Amino acid sequence: MKILLIGSGGREHALAWAISGSPICNRLYVSPGNPGTAQCGENVVLDIDDHAAVVAFCRLQGIDLVVVGPEGPLVAGIADDLVAAGIKTFGPSKAAAQLEGSKAFTKELCAEFDIPTAGFGRFRDAASAKAYVATQGAPIVIKADGLAAGKGVVMAQTLDEANEAIEMMFSGGFGTAGAEIVIEEWMIGEEASFFALCDGRHALALASAQDHKRVGDGDTGPNTGGMGAYSPAPVMTRELEDRVMAEIIAPTLAGMEKRGMPFKGILYAGLMITAQGPKLIEYNVRFGDPECEVLMPRLKSDIAPAFLAACDGVLDSFDLRWSDEAALTVVLAARGYPGTPEKGSVIRGIAKAEAQDGVLVFHAGTKQLAADLVADGGRVLNVVGLGKSVGEAQRRAYAAVDAIDWPEGFCRRDIGWQAVKREEG
Ligand code: AMP
Ligand code: GLY
Repeated sequence: MKILLIGSGGREHALAWAISGSPICNRLYVSPGNPGTAQCGENVVLDIDDHAAVVAFCRLQGIDLVVVGPEGPLVAGIADDLVAAGIKTFGPSKAAAQLEGSKAFTKELCAEFDIPTAGFGRFRDAASAKAYVATQGAPIVIKADGLAAGKGVVMAQTLDEANEAIEMMFSGGFGTAGAEIVIEEWMIGEEASFFALCDGRHALALASAQDHKRVGDGDTGPNTGGMGAYSPAPVMTRELEDRVMAEIIAPTLAGMEKRGMPFKGILYAGLMITAQGPKLIEYNVRFGDPECEVLMPRLKSDIAPAFLAACDGVLDSFDLRWSDEAALTVVLAARGYPGTPEKGSVIRGIAKAEAQDGVLVFHAGTKQLAADLVADGGRVLNVVGLGKSVGEAQRRAYAAVDAIDWPEGFCRRDIGWQAVKREEG
């Protein structure tokens, strides 16, 4: 079959790598793709915002399945337009993508279907938001409702900080994402991520994975999209997984179906493991990036039939097998990230890194400029190590990082530290 994958990051290179290994995929197109995805299939230039153009391309090429990587096109309704044109698409409808696109939507769903989450209020003006904060006290969490590239959250330690955040959001600090805000109770616990493949009614838990969001060693400094990740994540025990499936994922799918917007695709739950059990922080409607880069190398089953089963609503008769090996990815980022990254510096030595045992390199923000591979974004490369333990995967990943010659790049040196500490007892 012919498959079109939409997106251009490290997540999409990992997906392209997995899909291109499927015996049922004869042809893979990636749009826009990156120099890494070009090694797995054919990159094509399409205006992803122009859904009619994407539909036309699919018809012309006879595409059998579209896989959508990032949330942007999903929230914009690309799956609806493709499905309406008769093209099978892996990823939620516009209505179902509100689970990521609107925090208020998700909080209301939690309230209606008894899904454990932080207590909250929704506000459209500063005066009532401030009045609510005054009754709740600090610390407290202030969030812009819409998509704000992972930056729309202020963890306010004091009432003054909370009021400042409210003013900032209502005066357009996050653009239209802040037209409505959600104010939440500050939950205490350990954070964990959970991924489930969903077909509208059934969910299949994926292997566990955990990212590191802060830019600096020791989980310090500003938030990023993720500076590294590892799988399995020991925080997600079997017992916890069962609770998350029963208490959070299953009622979410049932609630979405009841609302007439069944969720198909990857449901990515950000969780807080509190003293009362797992609680939902937020949903994403796609694979995590860089979590996908450690999940795909551990997946032994063919990914393409899994995507098809999710599209067709038959996941209940499906199973996924995972390697016992651990995987760990280190993100190499361009100087300046997560602020404005420097572009254009030359990267060498990827082949040398990949030649090492148990190593894969996935591209994210790279560009081919004549004979040179150059940096072209914030997160530029994902260097993945595989091994018998997270510790071994970590050693291999960093040995590969050290083989890459890119003085203008940087990475964290402690990815996986909690898991390695647990392994070492
Ligand atoms: P979000 O964009 O909603 O995932 O929030 C980003 C980060 O803020 C999360 O990964 C948590 O570390 C933190 N966070 C968000 N909401 C809460 C909350 N209600 N209680 C504690 N921490 C939170
Ligand atoms: N790694 C975090 C995310 O994909 O949102």
